[in-house]
Amino acid sequence: MYCIVLISFWLLISQQCYGQVLWPAAESRSNTFNSTYGSLDEEQARSLMRSANLSEAQQQAVLVAINFERSNWAGSSTQLDAFYQDVPSTATVEAGTPIKIENYTNTTLYTIPPGVALSRMLFTTETINGTVIPASAIVLWPWLPRRFANISGLPVVGWGHGLSGWSGECGPSHIRNIWYAYGAPFTLALQGYVVVAPDYAGLGVDHDAEGNFIPHQAFAGPAAGNDLIYSVQAAQNAWSSLSKEFIIMGHSQGGGAAWAAAEKLAKKPVEGYLGTVSGSPLTSFPATVNLVLDQPVPLGAGLARLSTGISSIFPSFQWSDWLSDEGIRLTQVLQWLQGCQSVALELIQSPNLVREGWNATWYLSAFEDLTRVGRKEFAGPMLVLEGTADAMIPAVLTSAAANETCSTWPKSQLQYTLLEGVTHVSVLYAGQQIWLNWIADRFSGIDAPTECVQEMVSPALEKQAYQAEVGYTLQYAFYPYEVA
Ligand SMILES: *[C@@H]1O[C@H](CO)[C@@H](O)[C@H](O)[C@H]1NC(C)=O
Ligand SMILES: *[C@@H]1O[C@H](CO)[C@@H](O)[C@H](O)[C@H]1NC(C)=O
Ligand SMILES: *[C@@H]1O[C@H](CO)[C@@H](O)[C@H](O)[C@H]1NC(C)=O
Ligand SMILES: *[C@@H]1O[C@H](CO)[C@@H](O)[C@H](O)[C@H]1NC(C)=O
Ligand SMILES: *[C@@H]1O[C@H](CO)[C@@H](O)[C@H](O)[C@H]1NC(C)=O
Ligand SMILES: *[C@@H]1O[C@H](CO)[C@@H](O)[C@H](O)[C@H]1NC(C)=O
Ligand SMILES: *[C@@H]1O[C@H](CO)[C@@H](O)[C@H](O)[C@H]1NC(C)=O
Ligand SMILES: *[C@@H]1O[C@H](CO)[C@@H](O)[C@H](O)[C@H]1NC(C)=O
Repeated sequence: MYCIVLISFWLLISQQCYGQVLWPAAESRSNTFNSTYGSLDEEQARSLMRSANLSEAQQQAVLVAINFERSNWAGSSTQLDAFYQDVPSTATVEAGTPIKIENYTNTTLYTIPPGVALSRMLFTTETINGTVIPASAIVLWPWLPRRFANISGLPVVGWGHGLSGWSGECGPSHIRNIWYAYGAPFTLALQGYVVVAPDYAGLGVDHDAEGNFIPHQAFAGPAAGNDLIYSVQAAQNAWSSLSKEFIIMGHSQGGGAAWAAAEKLAKKPVEGYLGTVSGSPLTSFPATVNLVLDQPVPLGAGLARLSTGISSIFPSFQWSDWLSDEGIRLTQVLQWLQGCQSVALELIQSPNLVREGWNATWYLSAFEDLTRVGRKEFAGPMLVLEGTADAMIPAVLTSAAANETCSTWPKSQLQYTLLEGVTHVSVLYAGQQIWLNWIADRFSGIDAPTECVQEMVSPALEKQAYQAEVGYTLQYAFYPYEVA
């Protein structure tokens, strides 16, 4: 430690320290992202991919992607980490209960900002059908918690991440940058909020105490919304220093989850709830399929992802209802590899993933009925942020959900803010002041508008002048020169 401090003030490097540097000799960073964990049976992986007709080049790309994912794990595989493996019984526990607490998580395994501490927690939540199951979460602790006049305790924000994957390894709690980094969770912690960030059920912890597998119910907003509400409650039960008051926030899949949480809170209010921030929300999977995924590749890519967990909602569903033999093979490979979003982007790209007649099955419309977000009463206030240049969740869908909610429920406290020329994840960055101020206002007791408000915010310069997308990934620094 002493050495590291001195090295960062390089002028002060002392002789004693110089001779004792503990780092391995500096070398170029590998662009193959060779993983140090969980050695992969590469031959078996290749043979499975060959049976799914992937070319040599695609196989190589998938292997690099899996190594990239693994080299970004915080520590070992969740399958080897006792924190995720030894799951206390949830048989007689209600949702919102902490069942395992790790007060001090080793921050050096993560790429979190300095001045932020970490805890991990297992807690109970509910599936979309109301079954109580365990899930995992991380808690970020600010060095200097923000204080508000009428709030006793450290102010809490529940954070809902965007799509990270569909298996245990894809839980943001064991990814070094916790998946969204400065997009929101790090920023919230640096601004003085305690951030409770659940892995949606099935990510992180993937089985219960009896060993029953817990599938991730991908794209099911109300299921992930449960995880947001119950992780906050569990954290409040685990740490009495937290405020009773809380905000729910999320982006993309998590934006839909946050909105769904607000809808649930209208039916089942929770004391202390102050409001919801929903960024670029997924409000309807089928509408998104129709609009942006209406191409052979994205359609199959979307259905393959949804297929991974939907049989836990509709037990009669089989992959062959939607997927071609090739689609089934590739989805099997994805699961065998425990691959997440990076792997899927390399693996699930064929135009031939969908079985003809898939759209004559009833599952997608039943899924829509169960999971559609918007057009319902919700517990306000809610801030919805959307970029007009969002290609993942086109603004027209979010506008329709906001409009229909407001016309059906004119007293909704819905503030719909469009950011001109801004893309999907970028709304969190371009609009950072908007949502941070909105959250601070709620904790400060300032009243939100009592009815629907729509606004368009434009940039100071011409919109083409701005960096459009997140074009980097946080990397773990191995050598002093990398953080010089
Ligand atoms: C992993 O690293 C070793 C040594 O640097 C190298 O020989 C090997 O090709 C790498 N493998 C992959 C899959 O990148
Ligand atoms: C974690 O910290 C809380 C609050 O300081 C304390 O009550 C609890 O006993 C600790 N739990 C463990 C497992 O150390
Ligand atoms: C935290 O992890 C680092 C890196 O693996 C290790 O060197 C260190 O000893 C750990 N610290 C504690 C307190 O376990
Ligand atoms: C979950 O609920 C849906 C809709 O009510 C129902 O069709 C399905 O069978 C239920 N699934 C399970 C696993 O109970
Ligand atoms: C792979 O390609 C062969 C030859 O084109 C074809 O017969 C076979 O059905 C394909 N397999 C899959 C899983 O698509
Ligand atoms: C399914 O999709 C095909 C091709 O796009 C279309 O011709 C057919 O009408 C659709 N069937 C249903 C039931 O929507
Ligand atoms: C939503 O409402 C606004 C304001 O009334 C209108 O300009 C816009 O076209 C509507 N958008 C959709 C998708 O309905
Ligand atoms: C704090 O609460 C008191 C008593 O309810 C109230 O008079 C005051 O306006 C509140 N202050 C803020 C900033 O909300």
